[in-house]
Amino acid sequence: MSTCACPTQPATAAHRFQRVGAIIERHQRKPERLIPILQEVQEEYRYLPREVLSFVATALDLSPAKVFGVATFYAHFALEPKGRTVVRVCDGTACHVKDSMPIFDAIRGHLKLAAGQHTSADMEWTLEKVSCLGACGLAPVVVIGEQVHGQLAPGMVPALLDAVARPATGSAA
Ligand code: FES
Repeated sequence: MSTCACPTQPATAAHRFQRVGAIIERHQRKPERLIPILQEVQEEYRYLPREVLSFVATALDLSPAKVFGVATFYAHFALEPKGRTVVRVCDGTACHVKDSMPIFDAIRGHLKLAAGQHTSADMEWTLEKVSCLGACGLAPVVVIGEQVHGQLAPGMVPALLDAVARPATGSAA
């Protein structure tokens, strides 16, 4: 009666942690490599699941509070799942003075996100406000997925977002 056969759940958990374990091993289990480890884990999952953070803490012999503290301190890290396409609107000084916030509002409206909602219910989009993206000469700047778009105006938003959304279904040869 004490033998737990639980075949499905442990296999899933083992698979998830196996990939995290490989990342940790690549960094030789060094606690001082915590930030690059978390960056790679986030690339893997697109966010930092809480149970994975606990696993990282145990593997690096760090307290969960320390790992959670680092994960929540840096704006770059996300503790919630992100949508398939992440839209980042720069609100650094150069972009802000060139009206990046009306663009942010236009994107939020087009994606039908409520105030304070970052990710669409269908997990297609995540909208973020970020600080300087290092392309101030192009202000105001928005990054959609990997693509940088500069000198935008709110009226240009629908076409840009629709162009990203469309290819998934529209390329039957
Ligand atoms: S302030 Fe927006 S790119 Fe620098």
